Amino acid sequence: MRTKLIAANWKMYKTPDQARDFFRDFLPMVQGHDRDEIVVCPTYLALDAAVTAAKGSNVAIGAQDIHWEKDGAFTGEICATMLLAVGATHVIIGHSERRQYFGETDDSVNLKLKSAIEAGLIPIVCVGEVLEERAAGLTDDVLRRQCLRAFHKVSAKKAVSLVVAYEPVWAIGTGKTATPQMAADAHAIIRSETAESFGPEFAAKLRILYGGSVKPENAHALMSEEEIDGALVGGASLDPKSFASIVKY
Ligand code: PGA
Repeated sequence: MRTKLIAANWKMYKTPDQARDFFRDFLPMVQGHDRDEIVVCPTYLALDAAVTAAKGSNVAIGAQDIHWEKDGAFTGEICATMLLAVGATHVIIGHSERRQYFGETDDSVNLKLKSAIEAGLIPIVCVGEVLEERAAGLTDDVLRRQCLRAFHKVSAKKAVSLVVAYEPVWAIGTGKTATPQMAADAHAIIRSETAESFGPEFAAKLRILYGGSVKPENAHALMSEEEIDGALVGGASLDPKSFASIVKY
């Protein structure tokens, strides 16, 4: 049995004060909830406030990106040790918005993944096809390529904490959701590609989250699929009540 992980991706929303307000309301709603793991990923600037607010609770805090170098002259970037220093435990890598708007490539995803696992952060690596690729029947190829390149020269032993999020790009922030069956099929492809890279035992334990317009109304159906090991939630994670109801699906 894989423990499900429900993660919030706040994107470019919420100041530190707004993050504190969120946790004030959210924590009592999920207090004692131990069926699933809960992670919230605010902006870098709200990490400290979130870590402090969630201290001693069942909610872990993650970042939305990372630079792969340990330090150096990389204006505007943040490295793994800085995230660990403020108390973050998780990091999202290769989100489609990073790929689409900020030049993230399969190769930089690979470097970031290596850096995160080397530092002991739990990586949530995002993969997913765009609409044209799905329409052209290329979903399988795209997912396999993204996984293969992300996992290049990563050792299974070091990658034990790896989490993958399947986020079909056409479903992100659009209100369109993959059907539970579509998501389960894509997850099966990712699991089989992971088995190629890391072996079947590793793949059987790998948690694969679904992301793309997850809401309180569809969370139960999605989370009931055996292949779906949790959710990466954008828009619907900004409101404490809505995110709590997804956590409790
Ligand atoms: P959404 O975003 O839930 O707003 O579709 C998901 C994501 O981008 O992680």
